Amino acid sequence: MEAIKTVTSADPMWEEIRAGVAQQVEREPILASFLHATILNHATLESALSFHLANKLDSPVAGALLIREVIDEALDADASIGRAARADLNAVFQRDSACSALYEPFLYFKGYHALQAWRVAHWLWLQNRRSLALFLQHRISVVFSVDIHPAATLGEGILLDHATGIVIGETAVVEDNVSIMQSVTLGGTGKVSGDRHPKVRCGVLIGAGSKVLGNIEVGACAQVASGSVVLKSVPAHKLVAGVPARVISDATCAEPALSMDHCALSKVNRELP
Ligand SMILES: CC(C)(COP(=O)(O)OP(=O)(O)OC[C@H]1O[C@@H](n2cnc3c(N)ncnc32)[C@H](O)[C@@H]1OP(=O)(O)O)[C@@H](O)C(=O)NCCC(=O)NCCS
Repeated sequence: MEAIKTVTSADPMWEEIRAGVAQQVEREPILASFLHATILNHATLESALSFHLANKLDSPVAGALLIREVIDEALDADASIGRAARADLNAVFQRDSACSALYEPFLYFKGYHALQAWRVAHWLWLQNRRSLALFLQHRISVVFSVDIHPAATLGEGILLDHATGIVIGETAVVEDNVSIMQSVTLGGTGKVSGDRHPKVRCGVLIGAGSKVLGNIEVGACAQVASGSVVLKSVPAHKLVAGVPARVISDATCAEPALSMDHCALSKVNRELP
């Protein structure tokens, strides 16, 4: 068995991930090689992240080594990417009831992987490296079934839960501490060009399958019930539901994205015709 590297880290999150994974090596020796290569051989979260993402995004025309160089370049140049990676990891751990340890989303949750890879594509976009940014967008979409335009603006502490089928358009804004379920589209109506996508403010919870269309605002800590088609701006702290969506009530709590409280959503959905 490979020896576990000694790490003197000032990063409690990374130490916790390593400790959790070291236990898993004992419990599931069949995964030991994978867990060493992906976590225990790395001194920093950033090093493990670039290794893991690069292996997932590997393709015949751009191999993992080449992709890892690009990811490392972005992580070295912009410390906010690593900071956001930690905030997003904490968001999954705090909000996803299926997550019992920090290492789980880091290793296995594709919403987390897609978001971190998008952060690299966004950095490339801001460096005016459009082709490489679009190449990464394509790979992220193929590998994770999550299509986020590299020019979109996303904050930190974001949860993409399950993530399959999430689409976020070029001029969309998603502020900090937002939670988005699978099959959500933040898209244009197709009727206008330019700034045409939704602006989702802090603390919003968007339920599975919802389509939010047009340059509209979803106000802070608002809630969108699953399966809604939202065509008009949503006031802060309100709950909208239906096709087309209308305001049903106040949001179920002060911070719906953090609590992931869907109780009122299921009640509302039952009452809709
Ligand atoms: C959103 C869209 C339906 C609007 O078309 P439109 O003909 O201009 O319609 P309007 O916005 O003027 O709405 C007309 C009525 O239809 C309703 N409506 C619009 N879209 C609806 C929908 N998807 N389902 C049910 N009702 C809808 C509106 O609420 C409005 O009702 P009202 O008159 O009672 O207020 C159309 O732009 C669309 O679906 N585009 C596709 C968007 C898409 O797929 N984007 C993804 C990009 S990634």
